[in-house]
Amino acid sequence: MEGIYGNHRQELEDTMQYLLEEIQKIRGRMAVETGGEDPVEHCLARIKSEESMREKCRRKGLPETEKSALEDIHDAIGVRIVCSFLSDVYTIRDGLAGLPGCEVTQEKDYIRHAKPNGYRSYHMILMVTRNGKHCYAEIQLRTISQDTWAALEHRMKYK
Ligand code: GTP
Ligand code: MG
Repeated sequence: MEGIYGNHRQELEDTMQYLLEEIQKIRGRMAVETGGEDPVEHCLARIKSEESMREKCRRKGLPETEKSALEDIHDAIGVRIVCSFLSDVYTIRDGLAGLPGCEVTQEKDYIRHAKPNGYRSYHMILMVTRNGKHCYAEIQLRTISQDTWAALEHRMKYK
């Protein structure tokens, strides 16, 4: 059976891989500039599962189609980058936003403007164009302490 991403699964995987490689390069350059310190504590990436993408379509009142999953919803690819220091969040943000073929289509700075519940994180949607095709990716950047807070809040919400 063909899933909700149709025959675009490989494109999603390739774009995610491309972003991870570029993140590695940015980390490497930053480490050189600071004398060996890797600015990233950890980095996670995932393709949204079939079931959570379908659930999100329903929640947003969208039909469970390839178009909804790839064009209307923009977090089929998700990358979370957790940094030791706040300034590194913005340096990495700028590095990713400036990549060839990458365009920032949405930005939510919950670090400068925390959500009412206290959530802090910098989010951006990148439209990544490669070989004439585009994919969207949601990038979340935050510090270790912001990440710990978010993980705890997430657990409490679903408890
Ligand atoms: P979605 O409909 O889930 O995409 O939310 P949105 O379109 O309002 O996007 P937003 O950028 O606010 O949130 C995207 C993602 O950030 C969520 O799916 C969560 O992973 C994370 N997030 C947003 N708000 C919170 C929060 O209050 N607590 C925690 N733990 N995570 C959050
Ligand atoms: Mg989301």
